[in-house]
Amino acid sequence: MTAFPENLLAKIQKRKQENALRVLTTGNFEVDFSSNDYLGFSHSTMAAEQRKANLDMQQFDSDGSTGSRLLTGNHKAHENLEQFLAKYHSVEAALVFNSGYDANLGFFSAVPQRGDIVIYDAFAHASIRDGIQLSNAKSYKFKHNDLEDLKNVLQAYKNYQGNLYVVTESVFSMDGDSPDLKAMIALTESFGAYLVVDEAHAVGVFGEKGEGMVQSVDLNNRVFARIVTFGKALGCHGAAVLGSELLKVYLYNFARSFMYTTALSPHSIGVIYTRYGIMGQDKSDSFYRQQRSKLLRNIEFFKAELKSLGLDNENYLPSNSAIQCLIVPGNEQVKKLGYRLNGAGFDVRPILSPTVPMDFERIRFCLHSFNTFDEISGVLKQLIP
Ligand SMILES: Cc1ncc(COP(=O)(O)O)c(C=O)c1O
Repeated sequence: MTAFPENLLAKIQKRKQENALRVLTTGNFEVDFSSNDYLGFSHSTMAAEQRKANLDMQQFDSDGSTGSRLLTGNHKAHENLEQFLAKYHSVEAALVFNSGYDANLGFFSAVPQRGDIVIYDAFAHASIRDGIQLSNAKSYKFKHNDLEDLKNVLQAYKNYQGNLYVVTESVFSMDGDSPDLKAMIALTESFGAYLVVDEAHAVGVFGEKGEGMVQSVDLNNRVFARIVTFGKALGCHGAAVLGSELLKVYLYNFARSFMYTTALSPHSIGVIYTRYGIMGQDKSDSFYRQQRSKLLRNIEFFKAELKSLGLDNENYLPSNSAIQCLIVPGNEQVKKLGYRLNGAGFDVRPILSPTVPMDFERIRFCLHSFNTFDEISGVLKQLIP
């Protein structure tokens, strides 16, 4: 083995001292309150659901990718999925990326130009921030979900020559809460700014057919771009940027995380198409509708139970999504609580600083359609002081 660089070792040791060194675990605990598989889509019943959805899978027969989309990796399967996604999400065009991380990196590094300004929510996901860092635009944060603060920043740049981009998430990944999208679009429109919404944790959960929050409040034609990802509620992998045909052409010409990587294989594209097919079934008792209503019931039950156990105090972050959080300040304390819950059979992960700000460390519960009321009560009862 070659020697490990001293400066990197020092960084690992500093993380250890701060009780913030991450470890990879396989998390074989009994009850899942941690995965993004909100609807149980990654479970093995999918083959039967696929048969019921009656999807034409022949186009996905070829397994191999063979290249980037701009070379040999562009198959009919990709084009068909993109047309399908555009229709499903009521937008002109969709461009598939290999992951949500790639989509945000590609979008934010390529779209805002030198002379433009990106104004982003202080809690925006790392992939959005990394993309912004790679761009030549200036950027400013606004306070989390605070429209007054956003207005102040917009006001300061209202006579600015360059484009203004405003960035938010429809469900925040570490808080589970949402911005007031209608008020936000009205505000951004009044300043002539472009709104970009990351819908990673909203797809599959919000909207009758899981279309996401933007569509469920009828704003699909007013936002500049949406990022939808397939690794959360859809239980597979990949992402798409939804927007105009021109945005799509621009991105496949300038977004480097799209251009310089091997395309998803037709097989992976087939899995995404299948999950959408299941989600889009019209029948009122379809598998997806049943799972979604179970999930929504569990979210309501979690909140009611929290209240009845007296746990809905100032440490609870109010949320209507599948992500529910309780603040437990300090990495050591939150880790300790996490271990205790794991020991009781619950797969719940502590979220440490620096992933979230110091003193706002938290226990993050991801709720699922397949969680039972007993499991929800059980885990919450563990938290009674
Ligand atoms: C808000 C948000 N955007 C983007 C991503 C990245 O998506 P993916 O896991 O598909 O790379 C995540 C995943 O953690 C996320 O929470």
